[in-house]
Amino acid sequence: MGRYLSIIILLSLILMPYVGGIGTHTGSITSDVDFIVSNVVDFERGPTVNLVTNNSATIFWRTDTLTDATINYGVNTSILESASNSTLDTDHLITLNGLEMDTKYYYKVSSGGDESETYYFYTAPADGEEFRLVIAGDNRPDSTVHPVQPEVFSEIADLIIAENPHMVILLGDFVYQITSSDAANLAAWKLFTDITDRMGHYAPVIGVIGNHDTGVSSGVYLTKYFLDAFINTGEHTTYFSFDYAGIHFTALDTEEEDLEGRITGTQLDWFTQDLNENEGKMKFVLAHRPLYSTTHIGSSLDVNPEEQAALIALLEEKNVTLFAAGHDHSYSRLTVNGVVHLISGGLGAPSYSSSWGDDIFHYVMTTVSENSVNFTVINSDGYLHDQYILPYDGPIEIVDRIIANTSSKPIGTVPVILFSEVPTTKYYSWDGVANTTEITGLPGPEGAHTLDVYAENEDGVWSSARFVFTTIVPDTGGSTTQTPPPDGGLDIMLVVGITGIVAVIVVVGIIFKTKKR
Ligand SMILES: [Fe+2]
Repeated sequence: MGRYLSIIILLSLILMPYVGGIGTHTGSITSDVDFIVSNVVDFERGPTVNLVTNNSATIFWRTDTLTDATINYGVNTSILESASNSTLDTDHLITLNGLEMDTKYYYKVSSGGDESETYYFYTAPADGEEFRLVIAGDNRPDSTVHPVQPEVFSEIADLIIAENPHMVILLGDFVYQITSSDAANLAAWKLFTDITDRMGHYAPVIGVIGNHDTGVSSGVYLTKYFLDAFINTGEHTTYFSFDYAGIHFTALDTEEEDLEGRITGTQLDWFTQDLNENEGKMKFVLAHRPLYSTTHIGSSLDVNPEEQAALIALLEEKNVTLFAAGHDHSYSRLTVNGVVHLISGGLGAPSYSSSWGDDIFHYVMTTVSENSVNFTVINSDGYLHDQYILPYDGPIEIVDRIIANTSSKPIGTVPVILFSEVPTTKYYSWDGVANTTEITGLPGPEGAHTLDVYAENEDGVWSSARFVFTTIVPDTGGSTTQTPPPDGGLDIMLVVGITGIVAVIVVVGIIFKTKKR
């Protein structure tokens, strides 16, 4: 009897896989799932965590065939809960609700018998509580290696993941160019999202559109690849706003078609309303092009200087804390009248050196709460490069823009001197002579001149800074020099205009006289 039982068990073990195969052919989904062992795979996209609040998160992933979707998640790796969608699709978005605040959640997703690795993310803390935010920009490839992403971008992505951020903000220029070839564009963006999704496994990645992301330099204008790469607020828009842990974030589109380098029209109206509706909150504004550029002077948000001045005034009037931008491939931090202007464009695009920015590959690790913002700039080797903490309680910072220290400019060129906060008193002094309260153009004669700037803050603390500029006296003896007419003299256009009017009067008079006859 025992011998027969052993034979039956042995036959059962041998035949079991074939019995399962028969189940598959009957079309029974249940038996299908029962007999397929999940494979751990890399999906077409993701999974990534998006739209995170203090009690919810939306997980996204993309498969290359129509599949169902399941998430297993929980506060430890034994993963207790699940959510699923039986509708077959290639894009899968499942929202997890009822989560705990500022809590680490583990998760993995499965589709069609394939499953992801186990990842984790953090829910947002309560409003006003501290969270970790990474800000960085400009990873785009060099033209010579396009569409391959810079290796340093991949290396920095690993450093960012190790920071365990709650959220990552990328400030634009993600690919080198967009062309009329959809296949080429998709390939370039896939190389980009392969890296950003590695960060997106662990934290929501917010993207701000840059000038290389629209195709404007190739004569096309397409935002669909950018909109596909990021979920941002879940709306298909290139400018948007959202709240996170009590901080209001507004992302601007500096690349609107035919309005590149400007925030105007409908967007400006929306932005003004957005700031008005969030008066009481700490506000961070994000954009690709900076307001105080270090290397793209004239092609940043200063394309229209009057609009630039109005935008700066709006940020100051509405008490915006941070204006973060990229575009310049360097690091720069400039505080003007209480608004921190951060430039972080060091994710791998060819670096730019300038008199004001540090041409280093880097990211900005920021801890934010309603009481403090701590910016630490980390270079691609993982070392601290700079730190700036708000509230700032040091002396007024005095900086110059437009004319670099020691540069040469003609007489009359007025340096742009900026103060980190509005001084109660300020003085300017050229070459150590008597102070003036207004700055005037570079003095003559030709040669080096010093400009001392003094500023007093509300606590009566004086700060000073010295700048050196070299004056160039223009050569007025050249034959090509156009001399303006002296005051009170006749302008040639005025003479032509008067002659024309007199001629018309004479002709009309003759006609009138002839008709009278
Ligand atoms: Fe740019």
